[in-house]
Amino acid sequence: MVAAQFMLAASSIFALSYGAPMPRSLAERATGATYKAYGGDGTVAKGWPAEKDWKSFDELWEANVPIMKTSCKQFNVENNSDQEIKDIKAGLEAASKTSGVKKEFLLAIMMQESKGCVRAPTTNYGVRNPGLMQDHDGKATCNEGGVKNPCPANLITQMITEGATSEFGLKQTIELSKASDVSKYYKAARIYNSGSIAASGNLGDGIATHCYASDVANRVRGWVDGGSTCEEGTIGKNTGTAGGNNEKPNETEDPKPTTTSKPISNSKPTTPVKEESKPSGTKAQGAAAGCKKWYTIKAGDTCASAEKAAGAPAGTLQKLNTGLSADCSNLWKGYSYCIGQ
Ligand SMILES: *[C@@H]1O[C@H](CO)[C@@H](O)[C@H](O)[C@H]1NC(C)=O
Ligand SMILES: *[C@@H]1O[C@H](CO)[C@@H](O)[C@H](O)[C@H]1NC(C)=O
Repeated sequence: MVAAQFMLAASSIFALSYGAPMPRSLAERATGATYKAYGGDGTVAKGWPAEKDWKSFDELWEANVPIMKTSCKQFNVENNSDQEIKDIKAGLEAASKTSGVKKEFLLAIMMQESKGCVRAPTTNYGVRNPGLMQDHDGKATCNEGGVKNPCPANLITQMITEGATSEFGLKQTIELSKASDVSKYYKAARIYNSGSIAASGNLGDGIATHCYASDVANRVRGWVDGGSTCEEGTIGKNTGTAGGNNEKPNETEDPKPTTTSKPISNSKPTTPVKEESKPSGTKAQGAAAGCKKWYTIKAGDTCASAEKAAGAPAGTLQKLNTGLSADCSNLWKGYSYCIGQ
């Protein structure tokens, strides 16, 4: 289950260890929002929530506080104190100011990642994902090599700020979405979770926590937990429908690719190509900063064939390109990957 492990690296520890969903009544008592499964590309045209359908920060906050009071139970650490919960609110406001990322969105991602437990442990499947935001290689944490209780306000703010502004933080993933409509948030959520969006453009497709973007779209509408109708196994085939979001996947119509590239990991290697000093293709997401040797993927390449062609040790590509899955199934033709420092 290498692929699944990688998937969790950039995704929610919630998926790993949060066993018992909150009773549905809690969600409904909170804002009245019940879950809708969103399929497709994150646009309003495909039925995803417009920004006007988001709840206000205050409403979302009120709805999520009851969850935050008990959410550390999932990690067997002390629950958040009232002071820590106050500090989370201040941290969300501060991080939103610093980054320009809407605090409603920061809150939704935080709840998705850790349920707002300040002592959420660091997960590490090749890259550290610490704390409240389980962000990409952030520094701040109140649970790594020892549990901090209380978790100091400055660390709480730093955890949230790093989720917003670090490499692959939400500010950057919004930019990477290249969208300017509300879909930028849902696309950014997907990129935050898994490093990239599948070739189909469907936010539930490819290697990821498939319901992640749909969950986040529900969270900004005020849903907090319970009664999810999103199925990990089928959401990637749901291409979305204006007005109705619980439609069955349309089996007869393939989602439209947003790019001409295709994952090609299952094909056979072809003629070796040497590495380049500058990327000749689109730079792959997560390629190491300051990379000196690049390799542009040709039809038929695998991670192993590319490494062999460049004379690099096995595993180099995954090491130097954090967007690449452990099983190399998301290697993209025409993209340049770092293959040497
Ligand atoms: C956290 O809250 C939950 C729910 O009230 C409770 O079951 C659990 O024991 C609490 N955890 C601790 C460590 O007090
Ligand atoms: C789904 O399939 C039906 C017929 O099978 C077709 O009419 C329709 O255009 C397809 N697409 C969507 C998005 O409903």
